[in-house]
Amino acid sequence: MTEKVMIFDSTLRDGEQTPGARLNLEEKLKIAKQLAKLNVDIIECGFPVSSPGEFKAVQTIAKEVKGPIIVGLARTLQGDIDAVWEAIKYSERPRIHTFLGSSSIHMQYKLRKDPETLLEMGVEAVKYAKRYTEDVQYSLEDATRSDEDYMCRVIEAVIKAGATVINIPDTVGYAVPEQFATLIRNIKNRVPNIDKAVLSVHCHNDLGLAVANSLIAVQNGARQVECNINGIGERAGNAALEEIVTGLLIRQDYFEQYYTDVNLREIYKTSRLVSSLTGIPVPVNKAVIGINAFAHSSGIHQDGILKNLSTYEIINAELIGGKAAQMVLTARSGRHAVKNELLEIGSQLDEAEFEEFYNAFLELADKKKEVFREDLEALIADRLAFAIPPTFTLEYLQTVSGSRSIPAAVVKLKKDDTTFVETDCGAGPIDAAYNAIDKITGINPRLENYNLRGVTEGRKALGEVSIKLTFNEKTIIGRGTSTDIIEASVMAYLNGINKLILLSKVNGNGGNDAIP
Ligand code: KIV
Ligand code: ZN
Repeated sequence: MTEKVMIFDSTLRDGEQTPGARLNLEEKLKIAKQLAKLNVDIIECGFPVSSPGEFKAVQTIAKEVKGPIIVGLARTLQGDIDAVWEAIKYSERPRIHTFLGSSSIHMQYKLRKDPETLLEMGVEAVKYAKRYTEDVQYSLEDATRSDEDYMCRVIEAVIKAGATVINIPDTVGYAVPEQFATLIRNIKNRVPNIDKAVLSVHCHNDLGLAVANSLIAVQNGARQVECNINGIGERAGNAALEEIVTGLLIRQDYFEQYYTDVNLREIYKTSRLVSSLTGIPVPVNKAVIGINAFAHSSGIHQDGILKNLSTYEIINAELIGGKAAQMVLTARSGRHAVKNELLEIGSQLDEAEFEEFYNAFLELADKKKEVFREDLEALIADRLAFAIPPTFTLEYLQTVSGSRSIPAAVVKLKKDDTTFVETDCGAGPIDAAYNAIDKITGINPRLENYNLRGVTEGRKALGEVSIKLTFNEKTIIGRGTSTDIIEASVMAYLNGINKLILLSKVNGNGGNDAIP
């Protein structure tokens, strides 16, 4: 008999805890809708009590996303649980997820309470959550560094109080597979009422073992796996969703008893969407989804592949909605070919959006001659990043640099019907341009990091710049793409500034009148 493994996606909660991966409401909603298309069973979409923005995002997802169970996270505090319920009650399938530390490290240093008091707090939280909904999940934070006897007592008590899902998190990625397997098996065997709850695991990747631990947990009794797209998450991230579901399928010979309902063909598209909206690139060698996962470099491998794909490929790119072979587009390719390639990368634009996109494509094809699928993806990402109404737009940019000259920039920006021009110098042409922009906008955000990535190969490759800016305690990601890396850098900076302005319009400027 085969058994289903439920996929609990926490990209919008634990994934968003990745440093720098802030998402606004529209971006979260877009990802949640895509996760529903991916057909995950459960979407954890935030920690509602943490801020009004987070609350609103969870509430909007609960109202608009149909299909998966919608989960909000709460500490064992009544206020947290109330906030979760207020946010998720609109969902057809709401779940409250509450958690509390169970390791002596957490109890002694973080919670500063004795084990029995904490056990009681867990029980009371579950009872309180049950007043709102039948579906209540309880997590024992830092379970893998907890005393097993104590954990078994907590689990038994919270199930008795009504918990329907028991989650065993490897919060600090400390477990190794065999040991984790034993823990899951022991919980199954030792907790007398465990059959009244679904056993779940939530593995972090500090030792690179998150996926291995999750898979072995399934073999030992876990029927819910918590994971995130692209493996993003706190510190080294969480178990990567795409690796777990693809692993279970590709090694069906080994995991023959288990299946998931995930629609694998949506994986590629979901991965790229999460990457473009969070600003966290997918590493080229990332398992299942990295661009090198289907590339063959050595002559011996290429020879083998040409004779038979199975010589060096265990996953067919099409299985996950990607495509190994691709067309090279040029300015003469025409709308039909461009539309086709867009469908291949999972982007559907309406007619007006497509016309706007096609003009951007033609501009790029004129500069670059050959346009690859990755170029199209970068253009799409750019379109998403620019989907917010810009306050300032770039009208003109000129920079000077060289081994014997002082780097300088002239920048012309437009806001409504007014044009502003400024010049400045800097440590380099990009710094000079940023200084000139600061003079015009009156905002000078701190540049936290700067990433330049060649989207394709060759000297005319498209450069994608992604930067993290902080201003007024707000941190955002700005993105820009161009064949000219200085222009891409300036567009990323302006995109960031426009986002900061938009944020301050939504949330108030925190008393800082510099923001227009
Ligand atoms: O890692 C962890 O322990 C968590 C819990 C809140 C489930 O994210
Ligand atoms: Zn976690």
